[in-house]
Amino acid sequence: MFKKLKLWNTPEKQTTMNERVTRILDHPIPEHVAIIMDGNGRWAKKRALPRVAGHHEGMRTVRKITMLANQLNIKTLTLYAFSTENWKRPKFEVDYLMGLPEEFLGSFLPELIEENVKVTMIGDRSRLPQKTKRAVDDAIRKTEENTGLNLNFALNYGGRAEIIDAIKHLAADIKNDRLTPDEITDSCFSRYLMTQSLSDPDLLIRTSGELRLSNFMLWQIAYTELWFTDVLWPDFSETQLIEAVEAFQQRTRRYGGLNEEESKR
Ligand code: FPP
Repeated sequence: MFKKLKLWNTPEKQTTMNERVTRILDHPIPEHVAIIMDGNGRWAKKRALPRVAGHHEGMRTVRKITMLANQLNIKTLTLYAFSTENWKRPKFEVDYLMGLPEEFLGSFLPELIEENVKVTMIGDRSRLPQKTKRAVDDAIRKTEENTGLNLNFALNYGGRAEIIDAIKHLAADIKNDRLTPDEITDSCFSRYLMTQSLSDPDLLIRTSGELRLSNFMLWQIAYTELWFTDVLWPDFSETQLIEAVEAFQQRTRRYGGLNEEESKR
């Protein structure tokens, strides 16, 4: 049962959206949704604001979408918050982005705890500033027993770096006779990735009209359904998440095989 959401501004809209959510919940929900949150800079530029204003508004979207994902019984929501390439941005912007986890968790951690959300992180922690690590670690510790949505931040994350790191560990295990080359399979390799405890994403959403993957979860998205929207991340609303999940529920996933109907022909 989901709590009726009070997110829409007119009673008519409210009723329609709650009906859509009820319908969604009658069909298979994507267990793991991953989002490339893009378009913060353009959102700010359109309003003649500094780019960081877009990131700040984007943080508010993170809260809204987290709450709805939790209501939809999505198990994991992975958000691409900072890539290994984002260090190339001006220092001021990098510093601002690195401050957002602290600001977000400073304001919303009590709400996340109350809503049974579990916070985790993937990415290379070694280069993160102390304040960022402290805020994330504190949230991870305080929510580790929670059983609702797993809100997984990808911070200083890069798909290629993750794969290289996994190969290094795997090679070391072979060298130390803990593994033989014959034992390397998809599932064996997945255990060397930062997502070892997560299922692969079922649905990947990218906002802002860009049609690329930008080094995000390259191994994990082999069979993920992709959904793109022109909406800029700060404008992304509950309605778009509902649309994306509805679109996912219309897709037939074949994983390279055939579906039941096609197999009979
Ligand atoms: C890409 O938009 C967005 C980012 C690099 C940062 C995303 C971060 C957030 C949405 C906030 C994260 C919040 C928490 C709590 C960690 P862009 O700047 O590349 O936009 P543009 O393509 O329009 O310039």
